[in-house]
Amino acid sequence: MNQKIAPISPFTAAIRLPGDKSISHRYGMFTALAEGSSTIHNYSSGEDCHSTLGAMKTLGAEITVDGTTVHVKGCGKEGLREASSAIDCGNSGTTMRLLSGILAGQPFTSELVGDESLSRRPMQRVMDPLRQMGAQLEARDGRFPPLKIQGSKLQAIQYATPMASAQVKSCVLLAGLFADGETTVIEPVKTRDHTELALREFGADIQVTGKEIRVRGGNTLTGRELQVPSDLSSAAFFLAATMLVPGSSLQISGVGLNPSRTALLDFLVSMGANIRIVNLNQVNGEMVGDLMVQYGKLQGGVIEKDMTALLIDEIPILSVLGAASEKGLILRNAGELRIKETDRISAMAKTLRLLGAEVEEFEDGYAIQPVKQFRAGKFPSFGDHRIAMSMAIAAIAADGESEIEEAECASISFPEFYATLESLRA
Ligand code: S3P
Repeated sequence: MNQKIAPISPFTAAIRLPGDKSISHRYGMFTALAEGSSTIHNYSSGEDCHSTLGAMKTLGAEITVDGTTVHVKGCGKEGLREASSAIDCGNSGTTMRLLSGILAGQPFTSELVGDESLSRRPMQRVMDPLRQMGAQLEARDGRFPPLKIQGSKLQAIQYATPMASAQVKSCVLLAGLFADGETTVIEPVKTRDHTELALREFGADIQVTGKEIRVRGGNTLTGRELQVPSDLSSAAFFLAATMLVPGSSLQISGVGLNPSRTALLDFLVSMGANIRIVNLNQVNGEMVGDLMVQYGKLQGGVIEKDMTALLIDEIPILSVLGAASEKGLILRNAGELRIKETDRISAMAKTLRLLGAEVEEFEDGYAIQPVKQFRAGKFPSFGDHRIAMSMAIAAIAADGESEIEEAECASISFPEFYATLESLRA
C-alpha cells in the first residue's frame, strides 16, 4: 500500500500513543512465565508485540486480548510445553532473541522462524552465550533463522556482551533464570534496562551495579497488574514533526521516560527543541511523564560513540531532522544499523537524497548536508517501519504531496501512525 502525505500547516495538538514496544514484549513473556494471572494495560498494538503473544500462546500460556488490554494466565517457569510446530516470530528480532534465552532452559526442542527480513538477521550473538550455558543451537549457515534450540539444564556464566545490545543482554539474563547459580552480564555501554526492571517487578533476584547485571536462577515469577507507558520511540516521530513545522506545539501524555531511553530528549534539546516534562511518576518500576514540545530552530548535531547505542531506534528520524537543520548531521559508529529490519544506513542515505539532501555514506554512518526545502517525492520504505514513518514525517515539510511505498509496514510498531499524523491537521 502506498500512502499519500501532504504538507501540514502549523499545529497545536495533544496526542496519545500506543504502549512501549520493548516493555510490551517483556511483559508478554514474563506474565506467561509467571505463576497466576496478570493483566497488562496499554499493551502495544504493534504486530511485533503480537508475535510475542502468539509465541507464548503456542508455548502454553492462556492469553486473551481485548483491545490493548491483555489477560494472561501464566504457566509458571517450569510449565511451558513444547510447541507442535515452528514458532513464528514474524518481523520481530526482540521476540526471537529474548525467547531464545527462555527456550534454552526448557526440557524440549523448539524451532524459531521469521519473515524474510528477520531471516536475514544475525542470531550468532545469542547462540554463542547460550551454547556456553549448555544449550544446543543450530541455524541456517550457522547464524541466520530458522533457529533450532535444544534446551537443557543450564549453567550460570559470566558474559561480557561484545556489542551494545539490550536483546543479547536480555537473552542471557532470561536463560540465567533457568540456570544453576548466578549469571552475570557485563555490557560495553549501558543499554535499555526494561528486562532488569521488569524481572525485579515480577520477583526475580536481580542486582545491577553500573554495567554489570547479576541474576540468580530458580526464583519464581509472580503474575500481576501492569501498565505499559506509551512508546518514546514512537513519540520521536511526533516530536520531530513539531520541529519541522515552525509555530507548532504538541503534548504527548503518559510517555515512558526510562533514563536508558531519554538520550533522545537530550539530543533533541541540543538540536534546538523546547521540551518540558510534567506529571513525572513511576509505574511498575518505569518512569512515565507527559511531554510538552514546542518548535525551535534546528541546529544540527553529531551522533557517535556510546550515543549511537542510546539513540539506535531513533537515528532514522533524527537524520530527517539533521537534513532540515542549519548545520546538518554526522553519524558515526553506527554499524549496528546495517543489521536492523533493513540496512538503515543505506536506506536512509538513499531516501534523504530523494528529499534533496547531499549525503556522504561511510561504512559506519553518514554525513548529511542540510537542505533548505525538502522535495516532495515517492519514497521507498524498504518494508522497514521506522524508515516508512521517518519519511512520512519528512513529507509533511516537503514542497508538495509525497507518497510512501509499502507504508503499511508502520504497523510493525505503530498501526495508528498515519491516523495520528492526520489528526494533527484538525
Ligand atoms: C530492543 C533493543 C534494541 C532495539 C530494538 C528493541 C529491545 O536492539 O533496536 O528495537 O527491546 O531490547 P539491539 O539489542 O539489537 O540493539
